[in-house]
Amino acid sequence: MNVAEIMKTMDYGPAPESNAKVSDWLKLHQSGFQLFINGEWKESSSNKLFDSNNPATGELLAKLSQATDSDVDLAVASARAAQPKWEKLGGHGRAKYLYAIARLIQKRSRALAVLESMDNGKPIRESRDLDIPLAIRHFYHHAGWAQLMGSEFEKFAPLGVVGQIIPWNFPLLMMAWKIAPAIAAGNCVVIKPAEYTSLSALMFAEILAEANLPKGVVNIITGDGKVGAKIVEHPDVNKIAFTGSTNVGKIIRRTTAGTGKKLTLELGGKSPFIVFDDADLDSAVEGVVDAIWFNQGQVCCAGSRLLIQESIESLFIEKLKTRMTKLSIGDPLDKSTDVGAIVDPSQRQRIETLVEQSVAEGATKWQPCMPVPTAGCFYPPTLLCDVESSNVAASIEIFGPVLSVMSFRHQPEAIELANNSKYGLAASVWSENINRALDVAPQIKAGVVWINTTNQFDAACGFGGYRESGMGREGGAEGMHEYLKFIEAPIKSNKISKPSKIKSTAKPSDVLANIDQTAKLYINGKQARPDNGNTLPVYAASGEQIGRVSEGTRKDVRNAVQAAFKACSWSRSSGHLRAQILYYLAENLNFRRDEFCKRLITMTGATKANAELEFDTSIERLFTFAAWADKYDGSVHQPPIQGVALAMNEAIGVVGIACPDESPLLAFVSMLAPAIAMGNRVVIIPSQISPLIATDFYQVIETSDVPAGVVNIITGDRDSIAKVIAEHDQVESIWYQGTNEGCKMVELASADNLKRTWTNYGKQTNWYQIGDGKQFLRHACQVKNIWIPYGD
Ligand code: NAI
Repeated sequence: MNVAEIMKTMDYGPAPESNAKVSDWLKLHQSGFQLFINGEWKESSSNKLFDSNNPATGELLAKLSQATDSDVDLAVASARAAQPKWEKLGGHGRAKYLYAIARLIQKRSRALAVLESMDNGKPIRESRDLDIPLAIRHFYHHAGWAQLMGSEFEKFAPLGVVGQIIPWNFPLLMMAWKIAPAIAAGNCVVIKPAEYTSLSALMFAEILAEANLPKGVVNIITGDGKVGAKIVEHPDVNKIAFTGSTNVGKIIRRTTAGTGKKLTLELGGKSPFIVFDDADLDSAVEGVVDAIWFNQGQVCCAGSRLLIQESIESLFIEKLKTRMTKLSIGDPLDKSTDVGAIVDPSQRQRIETLVEQSVAEGATKWQPCMPVPTAGCFYPPTLLCDVESSNVAASIEIFGPVLSVMSFRHQPEAIELANNSKYGLAASVWSENINRALDVAPQIKAGVVWINTTNQFDAACGFGGYRESGMGREGGAEGMHEYLKFIEAPIKSNKISKPSKIKSTAKPSDVLANIDQTAKLYINGKQARPDNGNTLPVYAASGEQIGRVSEGTRKDVRNAVQAAFKACSWSRSSGHLRAQILYYLAENLNFRRDEFCKRLITMTGATKANAELEFDTSIERLFTFAAWADKYDGSVHQPPIQGVALAMNEAIGVVGIACPDESPLLAFVSMLAPAIAMGNRVVIIPSQISPLIATDFYQVIETSDVPAGVVNIITGDRDSIAKVIAEHDQVESIWYQGTNEGCKMVELASADNLKRTWTNYGKQTNWYQIGDGKQFLRHACQVKNIWIPYGD
């Protein structure tokens, strides 16, 4: 083709990137890659190798070692042995290593980009311009957090050994997201890349060796899901960080339940891409290209659901189809390729099956007329129109270059459709009316919202999901906290009001006795009798019966959750309003100091001085969280785009709370106050042994302008009520303080809808010294990053 002909078609000619250097590197390892354990290359104890292929050609790239259980043991042991010294090195010492790693990736960036494209099938433009630069950015950014450890994370310590399991869609980038914060915080790591795409991790291991990273700080082992499962199960691992499918995320939640392992899960998504009629349509079309055809749609936050305002639907779809015909699909190493190869034939098959199912369910499929390579693993960009809410393409993550289209009439319908998903990872909102966009963004249940842009990432901006998209954040200060634990002040046991022993559970003869003195439940702003009419006796520390409380049932929990769910306007109320109500609660509680202190003495056997201390600390605690209510409000990031990202601390929603038996008033207040201060509505189970302290609290709530449904109190058997709460789909988080078995039960019961949990693993909390209270606030909210570009 001559220049004149090219000018006519305006087609790009081929512009292949050379893979010569990477091919030489692969040849050096022709006999197979080993595992990187304790800073050295080591053969797998099984000597088993598996193939890693180039998805664009089907050719064998390399042979990788299948790690065994004993290799995992060895990797964990070497991480454990290295950890104390790595921690002692201090923030500045670690920062220097992170910086060196960033520089070395920079020096090898071209080779890494080529390798990533050969291994994963992604276009070189993307690996060169996004994957590798962002991986570098993560090491730089976290070198900074390591440097600032002493001032920014003063009261925190590393967790120890961290197990990390990553997927195949952004192999090096996910590795950087995982390793950089973990080692910056002083942890040591055992990481497993995905079996399809381990090669950049192995090149990265060479970088670690070149950086002279102390042996054992990062161990890289290859293999399939069984190796991942072994890391998850390993008793000497303190935290698991996983990115991958929601199904495996749920398995990991169940496996780690009750072990005390900290957990972050970054899972799937079905993110909405909302285009209003006042959007710049041409920009929005380009946005769609980036949202769903970037990395062949194999992106957890891909904008895979186009929600388009009815009035512009046909015009927009026409523009989109025209644009789709211009996408070029083919050789990932060609710099003009837009759509590369799907990672593996099994994934391609999955895409095809889901598209066929969607069509069978009534969707209309459209694909541009374009030459699709027949060799290799390619799937053309695809539109699915006429998608109903019940269609598989509206709800299931296809994880391929497939966009489903739905329309809406007005803004409320757009928001409803956007939130009609079990996922909540990301969303993109397109409107030239910034008021509208900023009104919509907070109403969407997603960890990231991009306004008039999409698929933006930065190390300073936390990334992670709501609901079944996972728990925890990666990036930013919030991401660092996922790798740290709060250093609790030791408990001075003489201050703790100890629970008296449970003398008996309700006997049939007890039921309905003393009915007039029985404290009811507190649901939807009113005192309510339990559904089964049962009551339980409450005993003083001396052993005498001092009253009865209602025995909450499954039905009562359902009513309480329903009331909390409906009280959603509390989550939208201002921090100022919530602060006033918390101060008012403190004021009204303080009026009843004598009565509450007497109650504490009777129930717990505390001395007068200790009861007064517990009471006064409870008042102070209400003040603390009232003070935070309008101050713990997030931050503004300045990522490297022309714009800002607002990191908003959002209420989680309905939070279930199970209180411990010790310090019954202080523990109750310390958990209730931060939860409601941040805008959550709660269903709270007070101390099982000393519940009267909470039932006395009803009147305080009633006189303090707390809206109905914001606080619901269910008394009775803590664990059976907590189980019902943990299993409830509308509860989005549960905090549990009790026994080890109780913690395990709550974590297991929460796995189905992946609700967030915060448990004490049977360890008593020092309620008297909670520092500035921020570790409570962090559990009481989730960070949503709203990206707002500006300028033309
Ligand atoms: P996967 O979740 O099975 O694999 C991700 C990683 O987890 C890999 O390293 C794998 O070896 C490991 N793994 C598998 N089973 C494990 C277990 N029981 N315990 C610990 N680790 C385990 O994902 P897969 O099968 O590769 O892809 C299936 C679907 O998952 C995709 O079509 C897509 O919908 C979703 N997915 C989502 C990703 C995301 O970024 N959110 C990334 C990859 C897949």
